[in-house]
Amino acid sequence: MADIQPATATPASLQAPAEPVVIRRADYQPPDWWVKTVALEFDLDLSATQVSATLQIERNGDHERPLRLDCDGALPGSISVDGVAANWRHEGDGIAVDVSAPRATVHLTTQIAPDTNTQLMGLFASNGMLCTQCEAEGFRRIIPFVDRPDNMAVYEVLLRADKARFPVLLANGALVDAGDLEDGRHYARWHDPHPKPSYLFALVAGDLVATRDHFTTRSGAPVELAIYVREGDEGRTAHAMQALKASMEWDERVYGLEYDLPVFNIVAVSDFNMGAMENKGLNIFNSRYILADPDTATDYDYDAIEGVVAHEYFHNWSGNRVTCRDWFQLSLKEGFTVYRDQCFSADMGSEAVKRIEDVRMLRATQFPEDAGPLAHPIRPDSYMEISNFYTSTIYNKGAEVIRMMATMAGPERFRAGCDLYFARHDGEAATCEQFVRAMEDGAGLDLGQFRRWYEQAGTPQVQARLEHDADSATATLHLRQQFSPTPGQQDKPLMPIPLRTALIDRDMKAHRGEQLVLLTQSEQSVTFTGFARPPVLSINRGFSAPVTMDVARRSGDLLFLVRHDDDPFARYEALQQLVIDRLIADIGEEGAAAERAAALEDILSVFGDLVSDQRLDDSMRTEILSLPTEAFLGEQMLIVRPEAIHDARRALRKAIGTRLIDQWRIVHERASAVPYSLSREARGARKIKSLALGYIASAEAADAATIAFGQFAQADNMTDRQGATMVLASMACDERETALDSFYNRYQGNALVIDKWFSLQTGSSHAKVYEQTLELIRHKDFTLTNPNRVRALYWPFVSNQAAFHHASGRGYELLTDLILRLDPINPQTTARFIAPLGRWRRFDEDRAAKMRGCLERILAQPGLSKDTTEQVVKSLE
Ligand code: PHE
Ligand code: ZN
Repeated sequence: MADIQPATATPASLQAPAEPVVIRRADYQPPDWWVKTVALEFDLDLSATQVSATLQIERNGDHERPLRLDCDGALPGSISVDGVAANWRHEGDGIAVDVSAPRATVHLTTQIAPDTNTQLMGLFASNGMLCTQCEAEGFRRIIPFVDRPDNMAVYEVLLRADKARFPVLLANGALVDAGDLEDGRHYARWHDPHPKPSYLFALVAGDLVATRDHFTTRSGAPVELAIYVREGDEGRTAHAMQALKASMEWDERVYGLEYDLPVFNIVAVSDFNMGAMENKGLNIFNSRYILADPDTATDYDYDAIEGVVAHEYFHNWSGNRVTCRDWFQLSLKEGFTVYRDQCFSADMGSEAVKRIEDVRMLRATQFPEDAGPLAHPIRPDSYMEISNFYTSTIYNKGAEVIRMMATMAGPERFRAGCDLYFARHDGEAATCEQFVRAMEDGAGLDLGQFRRWYEQAGTPQVQARLEHDADSATATLHLRQQFSPTPGQQDKPLMPIPLRTALIDRDMKAHRGEQLVLLTQSEQSVTFTGFARPPVLSINRGFSAPVTMDVARRSGDLLFLVRHDDDPFARYEALQQLVIDRLIADIGEEGAAAERAAALEDILSVFGDLVSDQRLDDSMRTEILSLPTEAFLGEQMLIVRPEAIHDARRALRKAIGTRLIDQWRIVHERASAVPYSLSREARGARKIKSLALGYIASAEAADAATIAFGQFAQADNMTDRQGATMVLASMACDERETALDSFYNRYQGNALVIDKWFSLQTGSSHAKVYEQTLELIRHKDFTLTNPNRVRALYWPFVSNQAAFHHASGRGYELLTDLILRLDPINPQTTARFIAPLGRWRRFDEDRAAKMRGCLERILAQPGLSKDTTEQVVKSLE
């Protein structure tokens, strides 16, 4: 064949078109050709893997268009159609082949170089093992293919490799055959009977050890479970295995959904762009979401593992059995699956604490996204690079939208809606619209207006005011909704906003039952009768709608709610609001000094009560007594003032620490006496222990460093050790260096813990955090090729508002240097670092100019990836 081209794995960044093409949801067309079955053969090798594929294709409809295959780097060495060598040509970012018959067998070969694949998309090498990542568009980096989620095919995969280097050979589905070959090689043949889109394809080859267990489904089908890790890590898989079995049981019990293959394999890899991937029957995980033992993982890590294992397992139904028609529907599987994993974690632990954590996360990541240049609806209308749309909006706001439907329907009807969705669309590639329709039909909801939650970006703002009329003994709730414009959406139609509401009697300190008020108009009033005295308004309880609330309430009412509201989220929220109001007043120097002093007294007295309130468990106590982050305070201001926020928050911490110093000491001692275990009480004790330590340090108590170092030295678990190191990292004392050195020496060689060591320093509020970060960038353990390490060093620094937004602009330059160095290596991970610079509109002119300058410097870099280009262009608009 004349036009065979050498198959080299050129980084996609070098091939990216200068002007990225915009892909629109409205342009959706089914593919011209379907691929129905795929037989793949791999001769695996780190530097040169040979791939051959046999595809049964079928013309879709009556047309004469060629077979178009998406292709990214892996150009075909040869192509034949029904056994006859075929010519192919470039077309867009794929190739085209003429096929005359309505059905044909296409055979093609490629060669790829996994060890140069630093993007970690397609087939790549990690610590001597080989594995794949195909979502969203990685399969086309292995072979040219109809690489879109609506093309579902049955896969059979034959793997061949050197037996000594790659003793374990895994792919989707079940093993059907395995054996030895000549020259020390061996093979394994896997078959997956479930038709699936290419993004769910996976293979793994390596020298791995398995932890095994088993599960029997409700209908009696046995399932072999295995978690594969590198040798030496097998002692750290028990928690993940436990979480897997709990997830399988939970999905049967709560959704009636059973697992559908005889094996479920999980593999942990250290180089991974995301958290984990739900490949059918072969989940691949970032090792940080698998490996845990008390000495190396915090309680927070344990929870994250449980949540991510559940998330990926739940995808087997919400994602795999019912997948997405196109990538605009991503939230169909992600929003729903996040909602499912949130409910699972709530069931496994504390519902109240889980809700607070999830809302805090939503506010810290999704609200800023929704208010900035990258805002998009949970079902976007267009994109340039789909990798940029694995966002907090798609995932976390998507989950909130599902949650609102669940709230409006109630548990039984919501379940009926889900049942209908799975029954209708099992084995299909579905749309968000189809989910909504199934929910309407199955749950009996009218979601006509509710569909706007899928269409509209931006966080709705709700104003609420309670008016009391003594004569008629009524209380009237006045509500109003408003929207700010987001890119491409100026005028926004009204949204239905479900607000769980209660009116609390001041004397009884109780309410007569909660109501779900559905705000559908721009202004709406609801009257409640039988209130001789004005009650206290408790609204958006449990954070029933993802909106910002502006409630006209006196601080006395907030204090009342902190003390008496029976909704734990509302209690938390009331104290946060008091603290925010007070800090914002301090920052803006609003109000008379005497007024502000009185407000401080209120906060100190309620903190004092809550430190020892018997009705609270320690975990919830810690949530309530934690101050909002500097970044979150910045979000509350039109123009963020990083230094003023930093100073005001620090002063408040110091006041709380100093006034309550005796109580913090008592709490610290009490909690330190609780022995290590994974019980709820012991975990709560560890959580409050480090909070108390933080306040003791904020009080600048003379013995703070000694107490912190004591916690560090005596720790028999990572939660205590990390908590103490975090407090010390922000202090200027000898104990700081001693602890950090000892932490490093103890865990040298354990990448996940060394990641923590980097984060503890770059996220600290030490006066020299910038200089320390520069030094860490030059540390011998820092590398740009491992996404966990890059994120561990840079994210805490970038989230460290005072450090990143230093008036000199040096924080922006530090990030820009990273972006320019990382983009040629790993564009997907790089593009996620653009958003912090894109927030320039929220800062003063000087900072804004510096941030824009950095974005422009990035855009000027020749060969900038499509991923990064899209985010920078949008951020500058
Ligand atoms: N689908 C994965 C999840 O949410 C996330 C992911 C996306 C992983 C893209 C890798 C690449 O579970
Ligand atoms: Zn997911």
